Amino acid sequence: MFIAANWKMNLDKKSILEFSKHLQEFKFSNKVKACIFPPMTYIDYLNNLVANLPISVGGQNCHFNFSGAYTGEVSPIFLKDIGCEYVIVGHSERRTLNNENDYDVMLRSQSAINANLKVILCVGESLVERKKGEALNFIEKQLLASTPKNFENSLIAYEPLWSIGTGNIPSMTEIQEMHEHIAQIINHITNKKIKILYGGSVNVDNITDILNIKNVDGVLVGGASLKAKDFLAIYTAAVKKTYNF
Ligand code: PGA
Repeated sequence: MFIAANWKMNLDKKSILEFSKHLQEFKFSNKVKACIFPPMTYIDYLNNLVANLPISVGGQNCHFNFSGAYTGEVSPIFLKDIGCEYVIVGHSERRTLNNENDYDVMLRSQSAINANLKVILCVGESLVERKKGEALNFIEKQLLASTPKNFENSLIAYEPLWSIGTGNIPSMTEIQEMHEHIAQIINHITNKKIKILYGGSVNVDNITDILNIKNVDGVLVGGASLKAKDFLAIYTAAVKKTYNF
């Protein structure tokens, strides 16, 4: 089970220190992996604050080159250098707001894996595709075009665009159908069993139902991960699910 907290462009140094105090008081399980993706500027800071805890940190994005004249970009090598274990690639906000296409996502993922990072590769359909009944086809195309050949030790996050930050989530049947579909395609591409996270309006109230869906190996949480109490409640739901109580 995997719980990922994507803080996006939120939480400053003071709030991160506050957050970390709650983490210090919590008993983590070795059965549920937690990874936090803070803003780039605070990765190192957070990593030092949680150095004694079984929590990983990661980057929200990385470039497809290791170095060079790319003002404002971050190398996967640098993320690795400051202790990141994971990097999110192809988040819908990067795809939409920074025009990253499937090919960019493939290159960035490939480069991250070459830098010994584990990738959380995001895919997701828009409401238009969902309403037209084309969601499954759309995701298949997205996966085929954005998964690099060297994809390993990595995960897929299924995040329907219309669900991110909206409070709307697909039905449990739709999530199950999509995760099964992704599991088959990614197995076909990589010949490996890859873990699949669900993301989009995950919160304390819906987490248990979501984790009960077949082929859901964890969640990528945005808004609800910004409060330590909610993040830890979501984590606790995953622990309960793992131990079946
Ligand atoms: P949300 O964001 O949980 O706020 O919907 C999820 C994400 O963008 O990864």
